Amino acid sequence: MLRLDKYLADTGIGSRSEVKKILKLGLVSVNGKSVKDSSFKIEPESDKVIYNGKELVYQKYHYYLLNKPAGCVSATRDGLSQTVLDFLQNEPTRDLFPVGRLDKDTEGLLLITNDGILAHNLLSPKKHVDKSYIAFVDKKLNQEQIAEFKSGLDIGDESFTLPAGIYEASLSEIENGLMNASIKPEYEIAYIVTLKEGRYHQIKRMFAHFSSEVVYLKRLTMGSLTLDNNLMPGHYRTLSKTEIDCLFSCNS
Ligand code: URA
Repeated sequence: MLRLDKYLADTGIGSRSEVKKILKLGLVSVNGKSVKDSSFKIEPESDKVIYNGKELVYQKYHYYLLNKPAGCVSATRDGLSQTVLDFLQNEPTRDLFPVGRLDKDTEGLLLITNDGILAHNLLSPKKHVDKSYIAFVDKKLNQEQIAEFKSGLDIGDESFTLPAGIYEASLSEIENGLMNASIKPEYEIAYIVTLKEGRYHQIKRMFAHFSSEVVYLKRLTMGSLTLDNNLMPGHYRTLSKTEIDCLFSCNS
């Protein structure tokens, strides 16, 4: 059983206080009877809740795929900069948060949800969920450096980086990586990098270890989820049922 105000807020009708006002106006009925009491208990799976003439479908968790543009921060709020949540203003953003962080100038795939358990499963260092990126750099690595990059680097942290994937991006991967990109990097030297962890500025610091500077970085995948090239930077969509199911079952 669930309080009616919580149910309505979870469904995205509005904040808890907005929902209370909506109830007072008599705009909600449960199983055919108008209900104004916020604490009224309902069975989300079976009770028929109508708001403004429309039957509601209960949804506790929300999942969005945002193509993060450069210039915004991966935080729920920030005194100075635009945040990734500012792009989802028409959604029930109350409990939403980005799953992991991308740097302010990094673009690409960002999962936004209010599902703490899924976020934990995707981010926990123990779960080793792959995150892949295309990194445009100003200096090519040699074979020895590539091997070192793969096996683990000392980038000034307590421990070496975990084994990572890296290979030179093909022309079609470069084309794909630059699709809808906010800048056109001067150098077309690009690598596809796959990490199993997410340390602060990790990819930039790994290339910096070899005096190579990352000039453009875009995240392409997180576990089973892939960036949708139909999404322009700053645009988002809800995940499909298949994508959600796979996030739970394909990454463990
Ligand atoms: N590595 C970085 O350096 N920055 C990111 O945003 C993500 C990975």
